[in-house]
Amino acid sequence: MNAKQLAAEQAVTHLEHDMIVGLGTGTTAYHAIQGIAARVKEGLRIRTVASSKQSEELAQQLGIPTVPFASIDGIDLTIDGADEVDESLHLIKGGGGALLREKILASNSAKLIIIVDESKLVRKLGQFPLPVEITPFAYELTMKQVRSLGCNPVLRVAEGKTFVTDNGNFILDCAFGVIDHPAELSVKLLAIPGVAEHGLFVNMADTVIIGSSEGTVRYL
Ligand code: 5RP
Repeated sequence: MNAKQLAAEQAVTHLEHDMIVGLGTGTTAYHAIQGIAARVKEGLRIRTVASSKQSEELAQQLGIPTVPFASIDGIDLTIDGADEVDESLHLIKGGGGALLREKILASNSAKLIIIVDESKLVRKLGQFPLPVEITPFAYELTMKQVRSLGCNPVLRVAEGKTFVTDNGNFILDCAFGVIDHPAELSVKLLAIPGVAEHGLFVNMADTVIIGSSEGTVRYL
């Protein structure tokens, strides 16, 4: 079992009957969805909502009950991955491009468990370029405003085309270098009208589960 899978297997032990569960996105969340499917097959009674079309499709293929957002009041537990985790459990997310939906799920969850391998742990955020989701309209001007905050934003491209999120938006990957004050940067980014959301998750994670290549698991 690899490190991501180990963390995911540990996270799914936190599931309980009748929970509304938020499904994350990415390769680590993939393992969690597999683990959730195994528990559902064993008889665990849960309902889920997904942070991406990809995760929703996977859940449905694996027989996990997915429900519309209109049918729930909130989420009991979301299990998701991250690109970076610092000592205060602040995160960078959005490497997979699902940051806006992931943040909506996280902010509506009673508990957010983040699952990572050891490579994601950092003392300070910022080695991983911060993903920022922006509207396509006048994106060049939005890029300029984001640049003025002290980075060199790169419009994300996938398979030779501009990457488009599940929400029809673009992603800027913004290498800020060390981010000393994530909460302040968050406020500045959100003040730019074309910015839909960004991948800084400040004070959102309750627990981080870290899997290691030696086969151990620990909690932060
Ligand atoms: C997707 C995310 C992912 O959680 C993040 O990119 C980590 O991905 P992986 O588990 O594949 O390393 O934020 O938007």
